Amino acid sequence: MSQDNSSREQWGSRIGLILAVAGNAIGLGNFLRFPVQAAQNGGGAFMIPYFVAFLLLGIPLMWIEWGIGRYGGKFKHGSAPGMFDVLWNHKLSKYLGATGLFISLTIMIYYTYIESWTLGYSIFSIFKMYFVETPNFENMKGFLHSYQGIQQGNGFDSIATAYIIMLVTFFINFFVLYKGISAGIEKLAKVAMPLLFIFAVILVVRVFTLGTPDPSKPEYSVWNGFAFIWNPDFSKLNDPKIWLAAAGQIFFTLSVGMGTIHAYASYLKPKDDIALSGLSTAATNEFAEVVLGGSIAIPVAVAFFGVATTQEVAQGGAFNLGFVSMPIIFQKLPLGEVFGFLWFLLLFFAGITSSVAMGQPIIAFLEDEFGFSRKKATIILAAFVLICVQFVVFFLEFGFLDEMDYWAGTFGLVVFALIETILFMWVFGADKAFAEINSGGDIKIPVIFKYIMKYVTPTILLIIMIWWLINDAIPTLMMKGVPDEKIPYILGARFMMLLILGLILFMIHLAWKNKQISKVEA
Ligand code: ALA
Repeated sequence: MSQDNSSREQWGSRIGLILAVAGNAIGLGNFLRFPVQAAQNGGGAFMIPYFVAFLLLGIPLMWIEWGIGRYGGKFKHGSAPGMFDVLWNHKLSKYLGATGLFISLTIMIYYTYIESWTLGYSIFSIFKMYFVETPNFENMKGFLHSYQGIQQGNGFDSIATAYIIMLVTFFINFFVLYKGISAGIEKLAKVAMPLLFIFAVILVVRVFTLGTPDPSKPEYSVWNGFAFIWNPDFSKLNDPKIWLAAAGQIFFTLSVGMGTIHAYASYLKPKDDIALSGLSTAATNEFAEVVLGGSIAIPVAVAFFGVATTQEVAQGGAFNLGFVSMPIIFQKLPLGEVFGFLWFLLLFFAGITSSVAMGQPIIAFLEDEFGFSRKKATIILAAFVLICVQFVVFFLEFGFLDEMDYWAGTFGLVVFALIETILFMWVFGADKAFAEINSGGDIKIPVIFKYIMKYVTPTILLIIMIWWLINDAIPTLMMKGVPDEKIPYILGARFMMLLILGLILFMIHLAWKNKQISKVEA
């Protein structure tokens, strides 16, 4: 098999690569999902498991994925099926890689729709379109639901606005993907990432200067918001649910277990550093999540509504802190329309630098394994995603999106991470894998991480899987507690995901069959 990857695309610069991978990781998860998870899981009680998961799952998996990705790239593979095939010379290995394609594609379908709301809301903010005389949870939820087409009113007669903004968002995503690694993804990251950090710093400074907005309620202060997240609460450490939530957040936020890091790393040169790059992108993501993401939505919500209500809002739904409580707060701040614009545009930049990464594995798969041009691969991906997203858009209120997020964005990440860790550290071999990760490195990874990657990471992943099998598998599969009217849609979402997975498996079969035929003919 060829080890010459000179004909493949390459990153233009080291800084461009770092920004692109950081952009891949830093996403809606950092600014929307993290605050909700932290608030739902007791603030300070969440942060200890969170940092443990970062150290024992996040960083090791980051290195594993950069390692597999760069190694696969040497053999001209930019997606998991081909990468697994070179790690394990067995006819099953490429099919295991289907998980990587399935997860990134499925998440892209619903994630980009959420991302489009942030674009919409940035426009609504600057034009004060959700501003009302007495902003409260009810009318801001009403605005969101009207925009999403779940109800009428608030200036929206139908879902048309959300639909058009969704199309615009997808168009931008596919345009970037069409332009390619260096001229598309890297260029986007070089513009979007610095802007994201600037916007975030402006917002954080604004939050820090808020103090106690209502002097008659001294307990409603930003400082209590920070205390809520940062006061460690050891009493809840025996609750496995909090550990699971923390591990889930680490996966989602770092984009590990998705197949996207591999795809980006496959465009590295064989001797490019990955040890330091992997670590610095993980650290950059954590800075964006904990320092910046943790300093906006929660402290500001506590300052205006108090700890108890903030927790209640977070419990009420994944989007309530970002799309309901933040718009209320912007209406109470001088120049709130500008801060609102910055907040939602920041989310949009965070989102788009992640969603393009989710499109890349399929494009690489079509290019590398079928020999398609980038243009053809992008058009195929666009057509497919646009068909699937219709269900997400129109069945949102029936839990279609949530179902996809559960299987691909939560459960799937653990499954894929377990498969890749076993393949790399056990089948390929821990010594070889660790040497591969360190090769060309600007730092030497402490050898303890070899053992963590070999023993600790997979053991934790296995424990998570077993815990899930015992506690969650049956009730989730049987849709326990799901209202009757949602059941057909949940089943529909599952059916669609099975179709996607089936199609990917078939494509893998086809690609390798074609390769065999051309090998015989040659
Ligand atoms: N890692 C990306 C995020 O945090 C997917 O949103």
